[in-house]
Amino acid sequence: MKGCFPIHKFRELTTPFYFYNTTLLHETLQTVKHEIEKYPGFCMHYAVKANANPKILSMIAAYDFGADCVSGGEIKAALSAGFPAEKIVFAGVGKADWEINLALDAEIFCFNVESAAELKVIQELAAAKGKTASVALRINPEVKVNTHHYITTGLKENKFGINLDKLDGVLDMLPNLPNIKLIGIHFHIGSQITDPESFVGLCIRANEIQKNLLARKIFIEHLNMGGGLGIDYSHPNKQPIPDFKNYFEIFDKHLHTNADQPVHFELGRAIVAQCGSLITKVLYVKEGSCKNFVIVDAGMTDLIRPALYNAYHKIENITSDLPVEKYDVVGPICESSDCFGKETDLNQTQRGDLIALRSAGAYGEIMASRYNCRRLPKSYYSDELI
Ligand code: LLP
Repeated sequence: MKGCFPIHKFRELTTPFYFYNTTLLHETLQTVKHEIEKYPGFCMHYAVKANANPKILSMIAAYDFGADCVSGGEIKAALSAGFPAEKIVFAGVGKADWEINLALDAEIFCFNVESAAELKVIQELAAAKGKTASVALRINPEVKVNTHHYITTGLKENKFGINLDKLDGVLDMLPNLPNIKLIGIHFHIGSQITDPESFVGLCIRANEIQKNLLARKIFIEHLNMGGGLGIDYSHPNKQPIPDFKNYFEIFDKHLHTNADQPVHFELGRAIVAQCGSLITKVLYVKEGSCKNFVIVDAGMTDLIRPALYNAYHKIENITSDLPVEKYDVVGPICESSDCFGKETDLNQTQRGDLIALRSAGAYGEIMASRYNCRRLPKSYYSDELI
């Protein structure tokens, strides 16, 4: 089954462009809200890195979620989309001084701190302003996750977080950092996680860590379990709204919280991926000696995930019902990796046909570049095209 698109409208637009199904985004947000509200103390900070398109951000902010930001630019984008500062967390291994100052001035909720070195800089900058910075320590839980090598983050060899064997040392520093207030611990084990057992593993490890902290008489106000819930790239129509019910149930069942201890989540992909498609036009169908190529006007500059991670996005010819044939679907960029799909089943294709690259709402538009001096893709929304 193909996705449902306003093709007559698409014909009037310049390709390539991102198309967002805002009805699906609303339904997804309503589902997240409904499921998370079953658990008092659970709260969502949307991971802005997945998609910072201003309209998408404002829609998410309207559901009263917070924002998880990883740069000064993301903090500015979140604030202007309507996320209140007191619901913004600021993470990232390399926060520049201006970004820390921006966050201090905006009085955000929390810095997710990734090293002893960073903690010292935040102390200095907060002291210079006569402010106190609330921080959560990002701990590398060393939980193995079955996902793409580039997007695992919770292993010892990754650059992220404070390794377990360094945690005591960092905690020992805190009494000497008067402008730092420890309010949480933070974890993130990776992205596109489809095996729920990985989250169970995270809960078990978080319980052990929290027990050790309590033994040291360190009481943590909130737990932040990061993001990472995966989506079904192969079948975007089968379950367009991910199983948030099961996701929150896992944490409710396996994570031990102290009385009134809030649990924060930072989902990105699961919220926005399925509502977005990259729409592109066929420029040429080229007969090769052993295969046929469909050359489209979108390239890795518009959607880099296939080239960068060998990621799969379902490809559909949304203007042809002819019998299915096999093609390599490639873009116009001067790189062999500029390929969206090899041996892809597509309805017989000709110049001018429109192709949809599905499940592109997360890490699509936001990762676009201007390589080859190309234009950045525009975006359109279902509620504005109808
Ligand atoms: N929290 C932290 C600390 C993160 O590093 C990330 C993602 C998230 C939350 C949100 O994760 P999500 O729920 O979206 O899985 N560009 C890659 C994904 C990189 C993810 C980086 N961190 C891709 O296109 O697959």
